[in-house]
Amino acid sequence: MRHPFNKISVIGLGYIGLPTAATIASRGIEVVGVDVNERVVSLISQGEVHFSEPDLDMLVKAAVTTGKLRATRNPEPAEAFIIAVPTPIVADKRADLSYIEAAARSIAPVLRPGTLVVLESTSPVGATAQLARWLAEQRPDLSFPHQKGEQADILMAHCPERILPGRMVTELVENDRILGGMTPRCAARALELYKTFVKGACLITDADSAELVKLTENAYRDVNIAFANELSMICDRLELDVWRVIELANRHPRVNILNPGPGVGGHCIAVDPWFIVESVPEMARLIRTAREVNDHKPFHVLEQIRHHAERFKAPVVACLGLAYKADVDDLRESPAVEIVSHLAGEKLARMLVVEPFVEALPKELAGFDNVVLADLREALSQADIVVLLVDHSMFRAVTASQLLNKIVIDTRGFWRDRPAG
Ligand SMILES: NC(=O)c1ccc[n+]([C@@H]2O[C@H](COP(=O)([O-])OP(=O)(O)OC[C@H]3O[C@@H](n4cnc5c(N)ncnc54)[C@H](O)[C@@H]3O)[C@@H](O)[C@H]2O)c1
Repeated sequence: MRHPFNKISVIGLGYIGLPTAATIASRGIEVVGVDVNERVVSLISQGEVHFSEPDLDMLVKAAVTTGKLRATRNPEPAEAFIIAVPTPIVADKRADLSYIEAAARSIAPVLRPGTLVVLESTSPVGATAQLARWLAEQRPDLSFPHQKGEQADILMAHCPERILPGRMVTELVENDRILGGMTPRCAARALELYKTFVKGACLITDADSAELVKLTENAYRDVNIAFANELSMICDRLELDVWRVIELANRHPRVNILNPGPGVGGHCIAVDPWFIVESVPEMARLIRTAREVNDHKPFHVLEQIRHHAERFKAPVVACLGLAYKADVDDLRESPAVEIVSHLAGEKLARMLVVEPFVEALPKELAGFDNVVLADLREALSQADIVVLLVDHSMFRAVTASQLLNKIVIDTRGFWRDRPAG
């Protein structure tokens, strides 16, 4: 099949960039993946992956073996660039766009008239226009959409990603996509690009709106989770069962409260709402408060653990799960890691951490002599207090008899319906 693109380059081969690069390559298009991390480039060049995600290993292996996907540290000319580098927040909760700026500097020398540049990194409103200005500084010989509109040499768009870890390979193809062009011509070219691999609807808008759409999705989730988390703390104070309260409230035909948890983690929901707060702090009051409520929840869980630990002379606490969500190996911004590291620092207890998705403790916990990575059976048999932090499927198998005579803090309500035995 003939494609409107012969060669595409993906800048940043992480959780978003690598599945995207491999999927496009699987459509028979030449893809050059670029990453600054030598280890990532070397692994992918051997057809290996550097994080765990269902079916990704096979996709990458096939793409590399057929020669359609190559990984390198040095950008080369391509008809389209997709930038998927990190956009974290810094200490004062402002967006750190330095990775996008570095990506701009690295691709600027290889841009040619007609090249499409797509920013996929989740970004504050105005970041795509800022990327255009950074590129323009490097390439005064070329024109960009903020300068020449539809007549620009370089086409630019923001196409945010909304795939779910654990389902990335499927959702990359099936989800609807928002394509925000800096001009209608930019959007039309982005549509040609995404149509090469997306089966979901591709919805066209402008770049600023596309940026805000992505942030809105995650702020919406954050606000709703904050409601559930706040309710869980209210119920703890009132000595009521939050799960039962939510279950009963949700029997109302127009009420659908989410599940509380130990906090909100990951590098999306816990981060992206701050980009809205940064742009319009005086308006984003609910969004800021939701962030603060969710950021406070780990401290509430800590308080519960401390309270129970006081009853023991030398308490042993089993902490089940470190990942930011169920059945993934991603520990970034994880409230579970935050809870365990605080507790470890207080030296209140010996801690047995069970995380089936990692082989070693993360750097935040590695230095503590009162924390070890343990297997589930051993941790359950030794613990006085069992804290369920992540609802990994394997923890479903824990039986009531394994928890007999132990204090159980189930932050996810995961064992509520567990049959006795
Ligand atoms: N992971 C998700 O579930 C998810 C979902 C939606 C959106 N996003 C957004 O996508 C973007 C990327 O996130 P991610 O999870 O893939 O990050 P990641 O940290 O997994 O991967 C980013 C990669 O970019 C590389 N990199 C950094 N600077 C570079 C540069 N100048 N040139 C080339 N490579 C560079 C890093 O080495 C790394 O391998 C972020 O903006 C994130 O918010 C992530």
